[in-house]
Amino acid sequence: MGRLPTDSRNGYVALVDKGELIGYRVFGPDGRVPGGEYDESALDTGGGLRPELTGRGLGKQAIATGLEYGAAHFRPTAFRVTVASFNIRAQRVVQGLGFVPNRTFNATTDGRSFVIMTRRQP
Ligand SMILES: CC(C)(COP(=O)(O)OP(=O)(O)OC[C@H]1O[C@@H](n2cnc3c(N)ncnc32)[C@H](O)[C@@H]1OP(=O)(O)O)[C@@H](O)C(=O)NCCC(=O)NCCS
Repeated sequence: MGRLPTDSRNGYVALVDKGELIGYRVFGPDGRVPGGEYDESALDTGGGLRPELTGRGLGKQAIATGLEYGAAHFRPTAFRVTVASFNIRAQRVVQGLGFVPNRTFNATTDGRSFVIMTRRQP
């Protein structure tokens, strides 16, 4: 699984495997959800697999690949993800990568609950 920077100005990075797009990762403010309280102590990251590739156990490696890329390019002291509270699948995957939940909030857009999770970098 590799990655291909698409547009370094906006923080979006394509995840590719054997030349095929399998998902994306995003770094910076585009990884935030309106209504959450954010500071500069961590780098936000988010993303997703192509819908037909979910549910097959590929997510952990996809997110780990993104974290490696983010660590090498941005050298953050911590990463932060914001996950919908209903999205237990995503929470399991990021917890398996060392993220711990910090707080929950309701999005100002549609009132849905989200959880903010962080992982300190070594
Ligand atoms: C979130 C995402 C990366 C997870 O990757 P994935 O490969 O689909 O996840 P997996 O199939 O490995 O499932 C992860 C775990 O959740 C469990 N799970 C799956 N569906 C579940 C559900 N509805 N409820 C509870 N657990 C569930 C799986 O059994 C697995 O458990 P395990 O850790 O014990 O093996 C991927 O689904 C994705 O990109 N989704 C679209 C975008 C998205 O949701 N982004 C999240 C924002 S951070």
